Amino acid sequence: MGSSSILSAVAKRLEGKVALITGGAGGLGSATANLFCQHGAKVLIADIKDDQGHKICNHISPSNASFIHCDVTNESDVENAVNKAISMYGKLDIMFNNAGIMDPKKPDILTNDPVDFDKILRVNVTGAFLGTKHATRVMKPVGQGSIINMASVCSVIGGVATHAYTCSKHALLGLTRNTAVELGQHGIRVNCVSPYAFPSYQSRNLLGLKENEWLQDDMYSKLKAEDVAQCVVYLASDESKCVNGHNLMVDGGFRADIVIMSRGMLLIVLMLILIITSQIEWRQQLGIDSDTSSRESQKQPQFSKREEVVKEKIILTQEKNIQRLNELVRSLKEQLQLCQCNNETINGTVSSLTENIIELEQQQILED
Ligand SMILES: NC(=O)c1ccc[n+]([C@@H]2O[C@H](COP(=O)([O-])OP(=O)(O)OC[C@H]3O[C@@H](n4cnc5c(N)ncnc54)[C@H](O)[C@@H]3O)[C@@H](O)[C@H]2O)c1
Repeated sequence: MGSSSILSAVAKRLEGKVALITGGAGGLGSATANLFCQHGAKVLIADIKDDQGHKICNHISPSNASFIHCDVTNESDVENAVNKAISMYGKLDIMFNNAGIMDPKKPDILTNDPVDFDKILRVNVTGAFLGTKHATRVMKPVGQGSIINMASVCSVIGGVATHAYTCSKHALLGLTRNTAVELGQHGIRVNCVSPYAFPSYQSRNLLGLKENEWLQDDMYSKLKAEDVAQCVVYLASDESKCVNGHNLMVDGGFRADIVIMSRGMLLIVLMLILIITSQIEWRQQLGIDSDTSSRESQKQPQFSKREEVVKEKIILTQEKNIQRLNELVRSLKEQLQLCQCNNETINGTVSSLTENIIELEQQQILED
């Protein structure tokens, strides 16, 4: 692929930079290596898949991309890879700790094997730790560099992957933040990227999908390795020179939707409590027994005719409100059960509840 012909010199954001990419023979790693080269960088791919790694380098650009065998769990391999970047290109500007593995679903912790657990953490966390350590060794003396860790939406949420994978991506975020504080003082930035699922050998394998097959009706699944690679280019380039310790979510709003949904739910619960409380207060003020809502009990002798008319109206509206609230809660429950509770649904429900509150407030004024 003629990398330099794709982007004009003006658009090249990594001109003259040198990058080391672990796991570069795979989906995201090779997409990033390709994009880095298009942006004018020299790339060293480090992976355990030798044949595939060499093939990718030839495909991208034999003059700008090269390969080194490296198991990221082995410190001397990582040390070697960093030294090779220096001996080949004279420096290291970008360290992309991308190598990572996922394990098949194991929803029951009782069936989780500690050996499998350690294996995931060793590649995903220790690998990135070793990459950071050896990149720092050569970046610190020159006082600059960008280290990028490949995390996942699992760095901030639970329940969508295995315990080991989720722990590993949470740990990567911790490593990113801790090293960003230490290394920021030496001109080295450390950030991580957290994508939602995108098609790759590993993700297809995990989901039991064939090559070229991908999730059909998932609203976030339009994400491709190339989209994630664009975000990595940003963090690698000088455009992000003031960005340090950041976790860049590349999830099409997947996590934001969860946060908005839970905030929406909280708001709805608070409003329900408010409405129920005010109704209890009114009932007490009007001298209505809390168990009965029958209109018989309203006909208390202490009320004047006008008060009775007002009270009648309030009771009717309250009954209507309770009915409407019940319907809203039922429909909300149905939406949540189907896991299709989006912002529109929540906003619609919240505004209906708001109308209810306004109506009840008007009644309060009437009562006063
Ligand atoms: N695909 C997704 O849906 C997705 C979503 C979020 C995050 N990620 C993360 O993106 C990164 C890349 O994953 P991908 O989807 O491109 O997978 P992939 O399997 O296509 O690529 C991973 C690469 O890492 C290499 N690798 C594995 N163990 C290694 C080791 N010990 N040393 C060196 N290299 C090793 C593999 O040989 C492979 O080339 C991973 O960190 C993964 O956790 C992927």
